[in-house]
Amino acid sequence: MYTEKVLDHFQHPRNVGEIENASGVGTVGNAKCGDIMQIFIKVNDDDVIEDVKFKTFGCGAAVATSSMATEMIKGKKIDEALQISNSAVVEALEGLPPQKIHCSVLAEEAVKAAVDDYRSKKSK
Ligand code: FES
Repeated sequence: MYTEKVLDHFQHPRNVGEIENASGVGTVGNAKCGDIMQIFIKVNDDDVIEDVKFKTFGCGAAVATSSMATEMIKGKKIDEALQISNSAVVEALEGLPPQKIHCSVLAEEAVKAAVDDYRSKKSK
């Protein structure tokens, strides 16, 4: 069963949408379930994530984990954001059923992909 926190983030997801001219965009998918997650970050000159939004075409746990992940990285430096593992997201949601852990992995990967995109754009 899902925890209250998971249901809350699923029913009232935070930071839904997209950022125009985002500093970085990460799109990841899970081949098994076919779910897709996209995270947009706006990073300032001090490498701080000023704004973050997400779009998830996926299951409820994918929505809840991406919502929680965006809350956790907002206002953080990109290096700190990279430290946030999927288990930290699951912990913040007070647990996920074992068969739903891969959904949280998607959230961690989407954050990493967005940061990678930001870094590659910056180095150009
Ligand atoms: Fe695949 Fe949740 S079932 S992301």
